[in-house]
Amino acid sequence: MCYNEVKEIELPKIKDLRGNLTFLEQNHHIPFKIKRVYWIYDVPGGEDRGGHAYKNTSEFIIPLSGGFTVETSRGEKNKNYILSQTNKGLFIPPMTWRKFSNFISNSVCLVISDTDFNDCQYIRDFMQYIRIYNTL
Ligand code: TYD
Repeated sequence: MCYNEVKEIELPKIKDLRGNLTFLEQNHHIPFKIKRVYWIYDVPGGEDRGGHAYKNTSEFIIPLSGGFTVETSRGEKNKNYILSQTNKGLFIPPMTWRKFSNFISNSVCLVISDTDFNDCQYIRDFMQYIRIYNTL
């Protein structure tokens, strides 16, 4: 399984009267091996997070609670995704500009990543991102 584009992925949902359960396995439900997990929470109303690209990192974004918008650009092709179902996530390949916005209060945004944190991976300037994207 290998994706070169942003892709919504629906995860299994085990329904139960005691509450639902969702899971994912690396290299099965998501197309990479997990190296790092972090989460964004307590986002004040109106604030955005992200707003950068990674050179060599793939990610899978899950709205563990609440909901938010993921604004993506692949080069100059833009697409927004509203994430609000906890069994549906968004795969984001490397060299994708992405920003998280419109957080509902008490949202938790889980980010699963295939690399360790490394500041050198970041492209934080959109024009620089476009220049690099156009050389690929
Ligand atoms: P950053 O990815 O820049 O978040 P945003 O784009 O939403 O501002 O991360 C914010 C800070 O957290 C930055 O100083 C780097 C640090 N950080 C880590 O130390 N480890 C991590 O895994 C992540 C994602 C961030």
